[in-house]
Amino acid sequence: MTETIFEFLSKIGFHHPIHPALTHIPMGMVMGAAMFRVLSLIPRMKFLARTGYHCVVLGLLGIFPTAFAGYLDWQHTFQGQWEFLIILKMVLAVLLTLLMATILYLDDTETPKLNKVTLFYCLAVLCAIGLGFSGGELQYG
Ligand code: HEM
Repeated sequence: MTETIFEFLSKIGFHHPIHPALTHIPMGMVMGAAMFRVLSLIPRMKFLARTGYHCVVLGLLGIFPTAFAGYLDWQHTFQGQWEFLIILKMVLAVLLTLLMATILYLDDTETPKLNKVTLFYCLAVLCAIGLGFSGGELQYG
């Protein structure tokens, strides 16, 4: 299946890895979500908690195609070889998914506080940084 997809993309003139183009969705949404969350702790900016929550929704939706594209690139470019950075990326992708799903379930955007949920927003940023760093190491060495 992987090679069929890459052959098709090559025929229409696209010769690049597909994962990097999609990574911006979860990366950007996680960063935005945490920033809006932190700003919403200022009483006058409480309304931004909802914006942060919406970023989490979009970021979570973006994780699935991004991880799938990462899997395809891994199969195509790295011949599916197991190595530490790939395992790390898989663990971080699962962790990020769980954190964001938990935020969606627990968050109360009407009364944002410096609580466990805010900590989850910050941990999601750490996961995103880890995913980007390990991805960059894989790509550029
Ligand atoms: C939400 C999940 C993920 C995010 C946010 C993410 C993010 C990134 C980023 C930022 C890069 C660097 C791209 C660049 O060169 O500009 C990258 C590269 C890479 N990632 Fe991920 N990643 C995720 C999940 C995965 C998974 C699950 C796999 C493998 C199963 C994977 C495999 C790769 C590979 C092989 C590269 C090297 C570039 C390429 O050939 O695509 N990623 N990732």
